[in-house]
Amino acid sequence: MSAQAGLSHADAQAGATIAKNGTGSVAACMQCHGANGEGQAAAGFPRLAGQNRDYLAKQLADFKAKLRTNPLMQPIASALSTAQMNDVADYYASLPAWKPGPGIASSTAQTTRGAQLAHQGNWDKGMPACFACHGENGAGIAPHFPGIAGQNATYIASQLKDWQTGARLNDPQGLMKAVADKLSAADISAVSAYLENPK
Ligand code: HEC
Ligand code: HEC
Repeated sequence: MSAQAGLSHADAQAGATIAKNGTGSVAACMQCHGANGEGQAAAGFPRLAGQNRDYLAKQLADFKAKLRTNPLMQPIASALSTAQMNDVADYYASLPAWKPGPGIASSTAQTTRGAQLAHQGNWDKGMPACFACHGENGAGIAPHFPGIAGQNATYIASQLKDWQTGARLNDPQGLMKAVADKLSAADISAVSAYLENPK
């Protein structure tokens, strides 16, 4: 996930205030998304830090328009104005992105499978590599393709399952639905675990 160039400092400052204090009607984002936007892995709350600002703003607009549904995020996004959404998107995009480390130390059948799906895809089923769209090492390609590297496995797995069931359908041209439909349950576990700490 890479921070975007050209952010307005004033907008990111206004976004920081919302993230830390909330607004009159909205809870502070950091209650769920972590003090530095790192997310809460145990709860499956997503990392937002360093994500591309256009993707973040689109998700907030989609929650507000009920194109993406979630009982926790929907009321929050609905209470934000477009300007406030842009401000918090600027703020989270300006925070440090996840940095690749040495990767998972031990190589198991599951990590091998996860790495294969991320880097090569599954051509038996016509599924391209995750990183073909999500960029080198999953860092994302703004504006349309979010960073997925360093995201918590619980959240990634929940999104992939939501695409399979149709609970999440806000992806442009159904690109992610087509991918998720080609993943087995074991593949979802493998690729989600791999993406938490990929090389
Ligand atoms: C009560 C907990 C909670 C609070 C407070 C909260 N969020 Fe969320 N947020 C979530 C959950 C849970 C999800 C994942 C929703 C899903 O699974 O679709 C989420 C998802 C998101 C996403 C989509 C991330 C992605 O990678 O697609 C964005 C953007 C977001 N939140 C921004 C915010 C902002 C900005 C605020 C503060 C104004 C905020 N959230 C406050 C729980 C919360
Ligand atoms: C053909 C292009 C394409 C491929 C291949 C692809 N994705 Fe995506 N993915 C997208 C797009 C576009 C989005 C943004 C959807 C949106 O705007 O809501 C996305 C979003 C996601 C998200 C949601 C991120 C978030 O923060 O909520 C996850 C998780 C994800 N992809 C995982 C994967 C995995 C895992 C693979 C490989 C198994 C993969 N993707 C392959 C295009 C692709």
